[in-house]
Amino acid sequence: MYLKGGLVNLILVGRNPDKLKDVFDTIKVKYGKIEIKTVVVAFSGDLDEGVKKIKEIIEGLDIGVLINNVGVSYPYARFFH
Ligand SMILES: NC(=O)c1ccc[n+]([C@@H]2O[C@H](COP(=O)([O-])OP(=O)(O)OC[C@H]3O[C@@H](n4cnc5c(N)ncnc54)[C@H](OP(=O)(O)O)[C@@H]3O)[C@@H](O)[C@H]2O)c1
Repeated sequence: MYLKGGLVNLILVGRNPDKLKDVFDTIKVKYGKIEIKTVVVAFSGDLDEGVKKIKEIIEGLDIGVLINNVGVSYPYARFFH
């Protein structure tokens, strides 16, 4: 989630572009003012490409909250940035 213009906006990450589009549309219908970006990333195998994509999409944004629903992470705690 990132902050802009007093709103909490969203970046949705998942493997499936159709599912991301469904979620994007559902949230947009209900909360039209929210800015939503989507990024297709599979958190399996080599993570470098996925991490690079996420770095590009969050560039310059004020990320406030990370919800890691995939449950994949480093094997130890690290600062997000
Ligand atoms: N369900 C349970 O009973 C349960 C119980 C205890 C803990 N948990 C934990 O709660 C979290 C969510 O569970 P859930 O059952 O809702 O999981 P899920 O449906 O498999 O996945 C949750 C989200 O993560 C995305 N995702 C899953 N695997 C991914 C991958 N390899 N790469 C990129 N995105 C991926 C899915 O989107 P896409 O499919 O579009 O990629 C989905 O939006 C997990 O960390 C799980 O371990 C679940």
